[in-house]
Amino acid sequence: KQDINVRLELSKGSALERIMQRGTLRVGLEAGYMPFEMTDKRGNIVGFDVDMVTEMAKAMGVKLELVNTAWDGIIPALLSDKFDIIASGMTINQERNLKINFADPYIIVGQTVLVNAADADRINSWKDLNAEGVTVTSKLGTTGEQAVRRMMPKATYKSFETESEAMLEVLNGKATASVYDLPMLAIFYAERGKAGGMKFLDEPFTYEPLGWAINKGDPDFLNWLNNFLRQTKNDGRYEAIYNKWFGS
Ligand code: ARG
Repeated sequence: KQDINVRLELSKGSALERIMQRGTLRVGLEAGYMPFEMTDKRGNIVGFDVDMVTEMAKAMGVKLELVNTAWDGIIPALLSDKFDIIASGMTINQERNLKINFADPYIIVGQTVLVNAADADRINSWKDLNAEGVTVTSKLGTTGEQAVRRMMPKATYKSFETESEAMLEVLNGKATASVYDLPMLAIFYAERGKAGGMKFLDEPFTYEPLGWAINKGDPDFLNWLNNFLRQTKNDGRYEAIYNKWFGS
């Protein structure tokens, strides 16, 4: 019943109109994925995605509301109208795209490998992880998890609720390697992995465009987002935000 009401509500025109009427853009994300969304020392959610949606709300002339939502429930939350858009480093993949729409990609990443110090010598490629006796970690419901299951069927897979747990398991020598998106592993390697003797295989072995996700059946919102993205990519706003979080 509640589901039917949500579908009815969503079918009345574009989310754009509801955002303008409400005066607030509601963004769903899950903090903990560096440098896209993470919690700073004062408890604020900051990062690349946050700066982009701040620009987005400014361009719409509305306030911004961030809705921190667990990753494995983030698509259902969008479908039931808990927020207007997901901006959370989400990979555009065909399975998700059956349920939701994506704007054009705002960055391209891919899966990489962070190896525990003790196994650094024998693991030289993601292919070496596809073997008996190897334990690989990643995060629940992510494309990292999908890559391990699909491409490393011989390894033992260990799933974690958060990125940091998955990486710490490897740093602490309890698993062979962690498989995850390049930017996040690169930051962890620089901050803790390198000093801990870990090895970082930073050549992505999957192709993963990240995009903002919205509910289906809303061409007006999709059109606005794609034009907004192209504009920011060509007038310096995107570059300034990119350099702030990824270095120039
Ligand atoms: N790109 C990966 C995926 O789409 C991981 C994204 C995780 N994002 C987050 N905010 N925790 O599955």
